[in-house]
Amino acid sequence: MWTSRCLWTLWRRLWQGSDLAPFAGAELDVWQANDEGFYDVQQKGLQPDFNLRGRFRTGADGSYRFWAVPPKYYAIPDDGLVGQLLAQLGRHPHRPAHLHYILTAQGFEALTTHIFDPDDPYIRSDAVFGVKESLMARFEKIDSPSEIAEAQGDGWFWRVEHDFVLEQQPAGRP
Ligand SMILES: [Fe+2]
Repeated sequence: MWTSRCLWTLWRRLWQGSDLAPFAGAELDVWQANDEGFYDVQQKGLQPDFNLRGRFRTGADGSYRFWAVPPKYYAIPDDGLVGQLLAQLGRHPHRPAHLHYILTAQGFEALTTHIFDPDDPYIRSDAVFGVKESLMARFEKIDSPSEIAEAQGDGWFWRVEHDFVLEQQPAGRP
């Protein structure tokens, strides 16, 4: 799904606790691999420093939105003991394509997580067992001219949706 077009938007809303009030002004710290499965730090000189990393704040209605390049699955380092362990277990070293998030807001528990492409070839066999149903993003192909214009895109794209919920810190905790 992520290889058809190199642009996509990630959007949806951030909510507060069990009453699900829109969360304005929270910070999203996001990072991802590129469309070849490499992070910027793995391709010094090929990718710019801090490539595909960003910080955003949610809008007044709790919404967030940004454009990104669809990441690709990648292999974790498997040339040492980890590789030997994986080989003995008969497991491959791949992680399905994903985006990392750290979500923070004053008075709430920080949330470090990632979301996944449900159609990734390794989605059912993540080498580090990080996939859960609740972390699957929703994909919608957007090709109507009005929606492309509204998104300020230059052609069809995947809209990737995922809501997050932050929980309040227990009373008395700094
Ligand atoms: Fe990763």
